[in-house]
Amino acid sequence: MLNQQVHRSPSIKTLIPFSKPFLHGNGRAFLPVHSSPSFQKSLKIRVGFSASNNIKAIAGATAPSVVSVKVKAVVTVKRTILGGTRSNNTEDVTYFKKPLFLGLVSAELDSNGSEKPTINVYASVAGVDLFNIRYEAEFEVPSSFGDIGAILVQHENQKEMYLKDVVLDGFLDGPMNITCDSWVQPLAIDEQKRVFFTTKSYLPSQTPNGLTRLRDEELISLRGSGQGERQPCDRIYDYDVYNDLGDPDNNPELARPVLGGQEHPYPRRCRTGRPHCTTDPESETRSDSNYVPRDEAFSGIKRATFSAKTLYTLLHGLIPAIKAAFGENKDLGDQFFWFRDEEFGRQTLAGLNPCAIQLVTKWPLESTLDPAIYGPPESAITTEMVEKLMGGDITVDEAIQQKKLFILDYNDLLLPYVEKVRQLEGTTLYGSRTLFFLSSEGTLRPLVIELTRPPMNGQPQWKQAFQSSWQSTEIWLWRLAKAHVLAHDSGYHQLISHWLRTHACTEPYVIATNRHLSEMHPIYRLLKPHLRYTMEINALARKSLINAGGTIESAFSPLKYSIELSSAVYDQLWRFDYEALPKDLIKRGMAVEDPTAPNGLKLTIEDYPYANDGLNLWFALKQWVTDYVNHYYHDQSLVQSDKELQAWWTEIRTVGHADKKDEPWWPVLKTSEDLIEIITTIVWVASGHHAAVNFGQYAYAGYFPNRPSIARTNMPTEEPISEKDMKFFLENPQAVLLRSFPTQLQAIQVMAVLDVLSTHSPDEEYLGKQMEPAWGEDPTIFAAFERFSGRMMELEGIIDERNADMKLKNRNGAGVVPYELLKPFSGPGVTQKGVPYSISI
Ligand SMILES: [Fe+2]
Repeated sequence: MLNQQVHRSPSIKTLIPFSKPFLHGNGRAFLPVHSSPSFQKSLKIRVGFSASNNIKAIAGATAPSVVSVKVKAVVTVKRTILGGTRSNNTEDVTYFKKPLFLGLVSAELDSNGSEKPTINVYASVAGVDLFNIRYEAEFEVPSSFGDIGAILVQHENQKEMYLKDVVLDGFLDGPMNITCDSWVQPLAIDEQKRVFFTTKSYLPSQTPNGLTRLRDEELISLRGSGQGERQPCDRIYDYDVYNDLGDPDNNPELARPVLGGQEHPYPRRCRTGRPHCTTDPESETRSDSNYVPRDEAFSGIKRATFSAKTLYTLLHGLIPAIKAAFGENKDLGDQFFWFRDEEFGRQTLAGLNPCAIQLVTKWPLESTLDPAIYGPPESAITTEMVEKLMGGDITVDEAIQQKKLFILDYNDLLLPYVEKVRQLEGTTLYGSRTLFFLSSEGTLRPLVIELTRPPMNGQPQWKQAFQSSWQSTEIWLWRLAKAHVLAHDSGYHQLISHWLRTHACTEPYVIATNRHLSEMHPIYRLLKPHLRYTMEINALARKSLINAGGTIESAFSPLKYSIELSSAVYDQLWRFDYEALPKDLIKRGMAVEDPTAPNGLKLTIEDYPYANDGLNLWFALKQWVTDYVNHYYHDQSLVQSDKELQAWWTEIRTVGHADKKDEPWWPVLKTSEDLIEIITTIVWVASGHHAAVNFGQYAYAGYFPNRPSIARTNMPTEEPISEKDMKFFLENPQAVLLRSFPTQLQAIQVMAVLDVLSTHSPDEEYLGKQMEPAWGEDPTIFAAFERFSGRMMELEGIIDERNADMKLKNRNGAGVVPYELLKPFSGPGVTQKGVPYSISI
């Protein structure tokens, strides 16, 4: 490339005196004036910006030799108040009266191999509008300076400022935009000048010589020393275990085990460095606000939406809804929509938790738990029972061979927790299995529910299989059993499919990306929008959702063991490679590899809305990632020799997911194909998977009787049978069902939280809509992004078409909610659609 040739070869510089001095080094090709077609374009810009006044030239014998150029810098600072909403007065402006230091950094070294001195100026406030404060300054850039590689910024104002961007104007090839989008602390807090690199991306080995030190030092500074307590203004990314969920100093009842480590494996969270508790040195003290690196905090508008929404929800929507739901003489008929069997089956494929259903491949069903502790492993679901329920036309063997039997299996997962949970007041627990039959219509029909209690309190194991029936007692028992299974599924959804697999597992990717990939690394720039706000929402979750006594512990069946249960699942089931949608589907028997099928995958249930739409999205993401990765890693050896990338992946495996570091299934990172699969998996989890399990929460689970988060009472048939309880059940089956449901307080808490969690902020960024500035800078990436964006628009249409297709009975029919959770775009609010880039709520 001419750019590199020039700064490596002084002789060329001498030969073409006008070739280089006033280009900003954003990677655009440039040629000597007399032969460059692009010069015509530049010329127009020059005229427009009165460049003739900017450029100082010395007349030579054959051509003018330019010695310097005047470059105007316009710095945009966003008007916000301490991370809050924009001020409606000018209070914030008064904080920013002092000039702003700016230093231009050359991308090149001088002839002695030393860094060139920066060109320094001070910018002053030149204007204020409703949204921004504008600073301006003028640089005089000598021709010998070379490409601009970065800009240094520092200020001595009273408050931190949110630096949006810096535009440098006066170069031959047009204005240069340096995107900052970062909080800059005053000198009194941070003595270091902040560095912002240009939008051109470089692999580490290709870093211009003049920027190598800054690139390395910036990463060292972001990694921090691992010491001391983090302050809100810090920008340090580091790891810690989940040892701040309990509050033992305040109340011994609020002591919780440390999650992360051999006993309770877990992904790592952001280190805050707070002091440890006096009563439990392993635990960190609680705080009203958990530290996140400054730029990870919510934007003003998102924070405002988040806070306002909570209040609005409580005042306007919830309390009347609760009163209505608990009102007397309530007709429980149609309001139990999710309670209808066909809807129960449909939502395992197109509801809030479509990632737990599996194909039955082994028969008879059997537990793998230790029989000495949990009792006989055989299931109460027998072959005769299932064959009768399937109508007598097909044997179990045939049904398995024809892939017609499916299961929601929460038996071995929950059974070890039953005894512990039953010691808590106001809840109960069983292991459960729900068996479904795939009808000729392509819908799932629930056949039988098995509930199991292990041996405990001197009683032997108890288990019973409940079936849908035409007899009143059995119908009510079936409904009660279903309430238990729904509570299990609600818990699995919230704790595993949602919290663990998306929020918790992604935080290490955010930390490692910021610690090891420079802001000028192309993979950093590819991942950046996918990691936005995840640390902040997770910090908020640690504060009041997953903490001891928080909403999750108060309202889901396992109560105080809820989060511990997610650690057990992480330990037993979580694998990075299975987070890729195709592999997840294959593992659950919901798809098989088939070279003749589109994208090489054939679904076991053709109309499986989450998988149908999800695979479209997965392969669109994969194509975009492929185009992007192949542009920067055109040579396979570049992946292995990329020291930042290798350090990033090693740290994700061995530190961020330290408890899984010795697992053999971690993908290796040697080729661009490896990198494409790893990145696609990370961005799928942050976008498609999260959207599918997040934005339908209020719609599907907000009306709690349809999907209770907890089932509080035992089955009346559980042995030893209480005659009194059985009598009450036979006389008041509806009251028994209602008693099993969440309490009013639990319902209020869950509804309020689900409403907030299902809300898109007005500044939400949807897949394929917003383009990172660095992507737009490179024509190849720009074109690839445009194709990706086109595929997202196409997917909108494909999903609409599917929802209108009467043949697809899992997403179309009387009273059936269309499946829109993977439609890429949405407006703000609770919309049950829209796929944001990142996990931000
Ligand atoms: Fe979420």
